[in-house]
Amino acid sequence: MTELERKRDRAPVPSQWDYAPAPEARDLVQLRERYGHFVGGEWLEPKETYATIDPSTEEPLAEVGQATNEEVDLAVRAARDAFTNGWSDISPAERAKYLFRIARILQERSREFAVLESLNGGKPIRESRDVDLPLSAAHFFYYAGWADKLEYAFPNRKPRPVGVAGQIVPWNFPLLMLSWKIAPALAAGNTVVLKPAETTPLSALLFCDVVRQAELPPGVVNIVTGDGRTGAGLVKHEGVDKIAFTGSTEVGKAIHRELAGTGKRLTLELGGKAANVIFDDAALDQAVEGIVNGIYFNQGHVCCAGSRLLVQESISEPLIGKLKRRLETLRVGDPLDKNTDVGAINSRQQLDKIKELVASGEEEGAEIYQPPCRLPEKGYWFAPTVFTNVAQSYRIAQEEIFGPVLSVLTFRTPDEAVEKANNTPYGLSAGVWTEKGSRILAMAQRLRAGVVWANTYNRFDPASPFGGYKESGYGREGGRHGLEPYLEFE
Ligand code: NAI
Ligand code: MG
Repeated sequence: MTELERKRDRAPVPSQWDYAPAPEARDLVQLRERYGHFVGGEWLEPKETYATIDPSTEEPLAEVGQATNEEVDLAVRAARDAFTNGWSDISPAERAKYLFRIARILQERSREFAVLESLNGGKPIRESRDVDLPLSAAHFFYYAGWADKLEYAFPNRKPRPVGVAGQIVPWNFPLLMLSWKIAPALAAGNTVVLKPAETTPLSALLFCDVVRQAELPPGVVNIVTGDGRTGAGLVKHEGVDKIAFTGSTEVGKAIHRELAGTGKRLTLELGGKAANVIFDDAALDQAVEGIVNGIYFNQGHVCCAGSRLLVQESISEPLIGKLKRRLETLRVGDPLDKNTDVGAINSRQQLDKIKELVASGEEEGAEIYQPPCRLPEKGYWFAPTVFTNVAQSYRIAQEEIFGPVLSVLTFRTPDEAVEKANNTPYGLSAGVWTEKGSRILAMAQRLRAGVVWANTYNRFDPASPFGGYKESGYGREGGRHGLEPYLEFE
């Protein structure tokens, strides 16, 4: 029982509100000791393996394969076989049926998938349960609807599938990024070889079960696991017609160089350094919620995270005050606890990167604030952090930190806000907070960002295209636009 404190004549209240632990059941997930590659509908015994861990405890969860070029080759051949021997010719309505099945199975097994996603990736169960899983299923439902309507989506253009797609996804939304890649590719009649990120392969491997349960023809979906070497092997493979990549700008540029002149199609969804712009007429409490969701959601491992807060100078003090008080209420800890707001950092490598950039912020002269919070001893953790007094030239205002770290800058006029917001090599997303509709529209016109949210942040819908400008990449995922990279036209 918490101690009761008597406050003058008011009823006694506990001096500290605490949440009892509310852990989700880990045993919803049955892990195998060892996983192979999923090729042509069968499990291929891997030549080399490595251990994948739980980043919140550093405990090994399973052995998974590190695919060699020969194994990648087998997967690409299986995809080619499936493409030529049936999948590209079956009726589009048949294809849609498989996608609907996958969507429904994901819904049925969503609790299991959510636990696995949190276990292997460190994200709070509340987020995997309420965001990753519903959105993954929604993506399959959405593209199932397009499969037999391609002629209407692209009238008079005679769409046909590209062939075999090589797809490489990152670790921040493992199953959701898989869905963003696989659903439109299949709807358009392609077959795929997908490589999950090395730190988070398990939900993609469980997805192979779903593929079997849906009785998808063998070879339509192939999954190979491994690190960047496997990814590079897939990019180089001559049997691949199209590469879809989500990850770092650095690797995106390398892939771009590699594919130049090969005729292979390429879409890139890369990093970001989004501005979340708060005008003086914004509803401050709502804005604070949007700021928190913008940067602390998924530990800030979000390409479209609102990592640069641009506040109009006149409201800077009250807003930052409210934000700091709100941060004190964030619960950092066990990803499988339903009350957790901020989970574990995905990997030691990512934690080191965050620490290095935060140290550079302090050195360059920014003022750091972290709410008091006790971090677990094992595993990879970083406290929610806010930097004020940030100059545009500081690394923390320029580089993608990809962690729970917010850099605050101020502005006086809308022009200055636009100039500062656009002053980055990236252009993936932005947020605008104001009561004025006209100002929202004016800002949306002038911000060089693929997505501009108004009085909200980090909202996703499969019908809405997503993608960047400049070094954030090219090509769109989601919506009708998301089908185009997987189609050829006469
Ligand atoms: P990364 O770009 O190295 O990894 C993303 C995916 O690409 C993984 O599946 C990886 O195995 C694969 N990959 C790595 N090297 C490759 C290569 N040469 N050819 C083909 N595939 C390759 O990103 P990393 O190292 O995990 O994270 C570094 C930084 O990148 C992060 O701190 C963050 O700033 C950014 N990032 C951005 C993401 C986004 O959603 N835009 C996602 C992940 C990371
Ligand atoms: Mg890397």
